[in-house]
Amino acid sequence: MSKRERIKIFDTTLRDGEQAPGYSMNKDEKLRMARQLDRLGVDIIEAGFPIASEGDFQAVQAVAREVRRPTIAALARCCREDIERAWQALGEAAHPRIHTFLATSDIHLQHKLRISRRQCLEQARDAVKLAKSLCEDVEFSPEDATRSDSDFLCQVLEVVVEAGATTVNIPDTVGYTVPFEYAELIQTIRQRVRGIERLVISVHCHNDLGLAAANSLAAVAAGARQVECTINGIGERAGNASLEEVVMATRVRPDRYPYETAITTEQLFPSSQLLTEITGVAVQPNKAIIGRNAFAHEAGIHQDGMIKNPLTYEIMTPQSVGVPSTRLVLGKHSGRHALALRCEQLGFQFSIRELDEIYRDFIVLADLVKTVEDRHVLELIRKRHQQPLYKSAAAAQSETAPGAGTADSRVFDRAPGAQLANEKGSEQPRLFPAEHEQDDYLWGV
Ligand code: KIV
Ligand code: ZN
Repeated sequence: MSKRERIKIFDTTLRDGEQAPGYSMNKDEKLRMARQLDRLGVDIIEAGFPIASEGDFQAVQAVAREVRRPTIAALARCCREDIERAWQALGEAAHPRIHTFLATSDIHLQHKLRISRRQCLEQARDAVKLAKSLCEDVEFSPEDATRSDSDFLCQVLEVVVEAGATTVNIPDTVGYTVPFEYAELIQTIRQRVRGIERLVISVHCHNDLGLAAANSLAAVAAGARQVECTINGIGERAGNASLEEVVMATRVRPDRYPYETAITTEQLFPSSQLLTEITGVAVQPNKAIIGRNAFAHEAGIHQDGMIKNPLTYEIMTPQSVGVPSTRLVLGKHSGRHALALRCEQLGFQFSIRELDEIYRDFIVLADLVKTVEDRHVLELIRKRHQQPLYKSAAAAQSETAPGAGTADSRVFDRAPGAQLANEKGSEQPRLFPAEHEQDDYLWGV
């Protein structure tokens, strides 16, 4: 098997991510997050934009001082004051990088910067030279690269390569490009910019069209070897490429993306959770890889398949990304198979006829409450049998245990005739013997 090529992961959660409304982090919060990014295995942490505020300067300084394995990058516009401030903040870094940027699109040059293309070329060259005089590792980004004239973009890149840049990043600043076009741009740069083969080409995609991860992967296939991304895909406007999506695409589809990263994927969910805890901003439930529903199933057909073999509806295990387990959510779309499993987990086993009865009540209730919790299931069982139920040994024990009485440790009673799932010598037939295995697929979806 041929060796897979190594892709560097440049995490900008603490810079581009933090710039987004609602995500601002103070020094201690950035430090906590940076330690987690280190555990996750990212290659580069962009810790902040030191000229932006005294607080951000101190945050970059603290991260640079404490987090020793990854490269620590600081952002600077192409001007002396920014670059010197970035370098000051990085003073104690084990592996510092100055990341300097200047827009190259005519829209930005004319309306924002109000400089000519010639001035842009000179400013970019001077900034990279200055950064290089301070720091061996210099990254240059032509902001709004994907809307820049490609001849001019190549000219600027050639100038910064000559000036000593070690990485050139090609930002899709406004999330405008599409995979095929972005890949072509990377190929054009590789063919036309003299000396580019000595540098790392990086990609930085925004998600305005929901294409940030797809664009990043297309660029990697075209020769880019660094991906800039964020945890949970946070970032300006619709966000940046999501780190977990890019990394897991290479893990799940090595046949199409034969690339390797240094990411410990089991740390993806803990990283996402920590970011949510620090910022107080929840992730959308259906967010790929780390969203609450990413490993949750409610549809009866899906639950039936999952119970029989998780490969039917999951392309990666929850454990591989640090999610504790798959969740089968009971709701109006659930089938009898999932209900039977939940009953078993609660300590009850029923015949098919008994389960059919409970299932009928279950569907009525599900229409009202949307998500059917364990306490609801227990109530349905109790209602069907209408008499005091016997407590299982485990349940009786939980009564005296600390936390008894909470939703998960509540006392589970057993219906007369119902058999505990793990009880030996059960006379009860299994709920779904082989000849009925299609039942739940066809019924109750
Ligand atoms: O989106 C962008 O262009 C940026 C640059 C500063 C790299 O964030
Ligand atoms: Zn950006």
